Amino acid sequence: MNIKPITPRHIFEAVEILREGGIVAFPTETVYGLGARADDEAAVAKIFCAKGRPNFNPLIAHMADIEMARNYVDFHPLALKIATHFWPGALSLVLPLRSENIAGNVTAGLETLAIRVPAHPVFRELIAGLKLPISAPSANLSGRLSPTTAQAVAHDLHDKVDLILDAGTTQYGLESTIIEVNGDEVTLLRHGAIPQEEIEEFLGFSIQSYIQSNTPKSPGQLLKHYAPRTKIVLNSKADMANAGDFWVGFGDQSEYDLSPKRDLAEAAHRLFETLFLLDQKASLDSTIYIAPIPNIGIGVAINDRLERASSSVSS
Ligand code: TXA
Ligand code: MG
Repeated sequence: MNIKPITPRHIFEAVEILREGGIVAFPTETVYGLGARADDEAAVAKIFCAKGRPNFNPLIAHMADIEMARNYVDFHPLALKIATHFWPGALSLVLPLRSENIAGNVTAGLETLAIRVPAHPVFRELIAGLKLPISAPSANLSGRLSPTTAQAVAHDLHDKVDLILDAGTTQYGLESTIIEVNGDEVTLLRHGAIPQEEIEEFLGFSIQSYIQSNTPKSPGQLLKHYAPRTKIVLNSKADMANAGDFWVGFGDQSEYDLSPKRDLAEAAHRLFETLFLLDQKASLDSTIYIAPIPNIGIGVAINDRLERASSSVSS
């Protein structure tokens, strides 16, 4: 297995693989990422191939700092203010692309680029060592659960990546929040680790949301994503689970309780890891029943992921 612990030598090895156009999986503060140098079309293509990701779905380019980011995107004053406050961190910004030094398949041909300055020290060392942006989606097969451990990455991708760096479980356990900043307009594109309220509190105004409704008029709009193999039923009660099923509680001290103390950050941190574990234990006719999760703060992102995971319509 190509999983390696974090040592200076393994980080050096990862940087060399990236420099030569290979792909590496590594921890971030959100979920594990699968990275390639963002200026190399052939290297980026390996990510799409390994994940089985449709090529119309663009990637986030991760930067060392705002200074590096300025070489690739235009920062309107509001975007700069947001970036200065939230970076390094779990917020991605979609901004106007200004450089030809980003491979066309990173943006899927769009005129905008999603960027983020990550906080995880290992990821920061990789970008600093490479001295180039690293484009990285979550390190899972397209449509499946995002990985929060190196073992979950290996489960989906072990024979498809050159190296997996293992730094244990990721902090947030959910992907970054994504907003588009177009002049003075701010639009939420994906719920994630940074709650919408926190961004609005900082801005002093509400932001619009372009997030696809989970009760859409046409079922074809409902994208199945973050999906384990096993059937999931949300807003459940413990007694719904029969023999062979699993119960995932919230604050009830049961075996797979997401947070015994009803802490939403802890529930987010454990969510994908718990679903991954239960997916391994489940038989074909098992069902995973999940307790209601309060829809506030990071709970909104938890519910967004759960709704997509439990949806029966594939993208
Ligand atoms: O926490 C995260 O964001 C992780 C870590 C590795 O940074 N990355 C991640 O990437 O979740 P991925 O590829 O799984 O999700 C990125 C999302 C996709 O839904 C993609 O459609 C959207 O970002 N995206 C990327 N570029 C975009 C753009 N220019 N405009 C709108 N959406 C964009
Ligand atoms: Mg993903």
